[in-house]
Amino acid sequence: MTRQVYVNGAFVGEAEAKVSVFDRGFLMADGVYEVTSVLGGKLLDFQGHCVRLSRSLAELDITNPHSDAEWLALFRQAVALNAVVDGMVYLQVTRGNPGDRDFAYPNPPVPPTVVIFTQSKLGLAENPAALAGWKVISVPDIRWGRRDIKTVQLLYPSMAKMAAKAAHVDDAWLVEDGMVTEGTSNNAYIVKGNRIITRQLSHDILHGITRAAVLRFAREAQMEIEERPFTIAEAQSADEAFITSASAFVTPVIEVDGAPVGHGKAGPLALRLREIYLEEMRKSAI
Ligand code: PDD
Repeated sequence: MTRQVYVNGAFVGEAEAKVSVFDRGFLMADGVYEVTSVLGGKLLDFQGHCVRLSRSLAELDITNPHSDAEWLALFRQAVALNAVVDGMVYLQVTRGNPGDRDFAYPNPPVPPTVVIFTQSKLGLAENPAALAGWKVISVPDIRWGRRDIKTVQLLYPSMAKMAAKAAHVDDAWLVEDGMVTEGTSNNAYIVKGNRIITRQLSHDILHGITRAAVLRFAREAQMEIEERPFTIAEAQSADEAFITSASAFVTPVIEVDGAPVGHGKAGPLALRLREIYLEEMRKSAI
């Protein structure tokens, strides 16, 4: 089956899905994106992703080209056309194609470029590697200062993932001023007893949609939450560690820079949170 991709108003076969070389997403990384998970053919936390999309676009003065209801219809069409059972919907909105290269934003603005494609990953929620837990290394966080905007500037996260691959581990945690900011494409947490510690929201990290849901479920399950930065040494001596993202849900972290976390196995609190998260998300999926 040829994958059907949405580009600026129509679904076309992936080979026909094209944008201009003058698109500011291509030339300037001037665009934002969202990754929404699909389980059982339904969208997880769609509303959360819509709210963050609007915020990212507003921060960059790009007009949101669609209402939430229109986005929902397009996402559902993408899922249906591609018969996605488990997987992801990827959405990218850029400042569009001004027809030439110029640092200044086009004035008047041109229509934003919209691309939606799907990735099928059957059994996404049952991934055994995720249940076994990830090993991570730390690398310096040299990204720009507005990580709360979900831009398509993903070169440094890609480089950090390559460093992780070269070190034969699963991912990298980014460290700034001696403190962990987040993972390359996920939010980072440690656990001490019944307390979950994760960096507070600011311009320094992406405001994870999974993070918001997981912290809500953790509070409801009487777990304590402390929002503050932590160090790599603290992670290495924690009882557990884990990450959250739309595509990895809650995934335990079992090793940081070569040192086992806790017993070096997926921790019970992280596994419990993963279970609760998946159960609640499946219930509210649309
Ligand atoms: N990444 N931090 C960063 C830097 C991210 O790129 C992501 C998401 C997150 C977690 O956010 P959420 O829970 O809303 O997915 C945190 C997506 C999944 C990606 O780039 O594929």
